[in-house]
Amino acid sequence: MVNNPTIETPKRRAVVAGTGSCVPDKILSNQDLTKIVETSDEWITTRTGIKTRRIAQPGQTTATLSAQAARNALQDAQMQADEIEMIVIGTVTPEMVFPSTACFVQDMIGARNAWAFDLSAACSGFVYGLSIAHQFVSSGRYHNALVIGAETLSRITNYQDRGSCILFGDGAGAVILKAANEGSQGIMYSTSFSDGRGWTALNCPAFGSRNPVSKPLADPSMVYMQINGREVYHTAVRRIVELVNECLEKCDLGVEDIAMFIPHQMNARIIESVGKRLNFTDDRIFINIDKYGNTSAASIPIALDECRKSGKVHKGDIILLVAFGGGLTWGANVIQL
Ligand SMILES: CC(C)(COP(=O)(O)OP(=O)(O)OC[C@H]1O[C@@H](n2cnc3c(N)ncnc32)[C@H](O)[C@@H]1OP(=O)(O)O)[C@@H](O)C(=O)NCCC(=O)NCCS
Repeated sequence: MVNNPTIETPKRRAVVAGTGSCVPDKILSNQDLTKIVETSDEWITTRTGIKTRRIAQPGQTTATLSAQAARNALQDAQMQADEIEMIVIGTVTPEMVFPSTACFVQDMIGARNAWAFDLSAACSGFVYGLSIAHQFVSSGRYHNALVIGAETLSRITNYQDRGSCILFGDGAGAVILKAANEGSQGIMYSTSFSDGRGWTALNCPAFGSRNPVSKPLADPSMVYMQINGREVYHTAVRRIVELVNECLEKCDLGVEDIAMFIPHQMNARIIESVGKRLNFTDDRIFINIDKYGNTSAASIPIALDECRKSGKVHKGDIILLVAFGGGLTWGANVIQL
């Protein structure tokens, strides 16, 4: 790995005070997809582990899903929206080009004392967001932060491309970090990487400055996500294994110290292959891709919320969040709950 300086764990910690999530009610099953493209439940299940995904309905947007996830996290943390000081949203399906989705969410939930911004790191958007908020809270600059990962990927999915449309779903997850001056709870370590040379493997080329939708596009399908699944698959496995090893080494932990490994839900086969290489037992790898598909930046916070609320993790447990995605980007957070 290239230079990535160790983040000294400061005395002041950024503790997970609450989590929340929100997914649309509308379910798109593998069976439903067989009516749209040439595919089968068997192919999708064995290649990806996905059975269903959730699809945003008219009126549901990245901001409305985020706002509901945020309200659920506030309730969990027993906090009021006007106490929140900072809102970060990782998304590649923002409400509009500008203003940021985070500003919409600030308004929707009434977080009038926060500053708010989006960050674009594709599937790594949430772990990047947590790393940034971690710095602001543990440095003492802010007392708390609301970090959200949210997507309406169905709006940039090409439902004529069977290689990609089977993968993606919509949803949002939120985490509230709060400062604590005592105890060992909180984010122990964060690490982030990117390699812009790999942009061609995963992208959505329209809507931006290079290919504005206001001008005729060379190919109308440029408004949709383009993925080179095979290339992504192999790079993801390698990078995720590297991230886990770095986190364990920097935190002086063994695999057995991690109560739950919560990876980005990109493909169950990728997660299983990583888990096997790292010797994680199945009961300590969280997988919910069967229900939601790949929700990009939303996948880790939704999984974390489910993990906490289903009692799979407890106060004091050490968890490991790891993501890989478009950019290319990758990153991880080690957290004691
Ligand atoms: C997309 C992914 C599931 C494809 O699995 P794969 O084993 O690599 O499959 P391939 O793309 O090599 O395709 C194998 C064959 O299945 C076919 N196929 C592709 N999609 C299919 C589908 N939905 N149903 C049936 N057959 C399909 C292909 O046409 C190909 O057929 P061929 O051998 O006759 O050409 C897998 O590569 C993956 O999950 N990659 C990472 C996903 C990703 O990028 N996520 C976003 C970033 S987080």
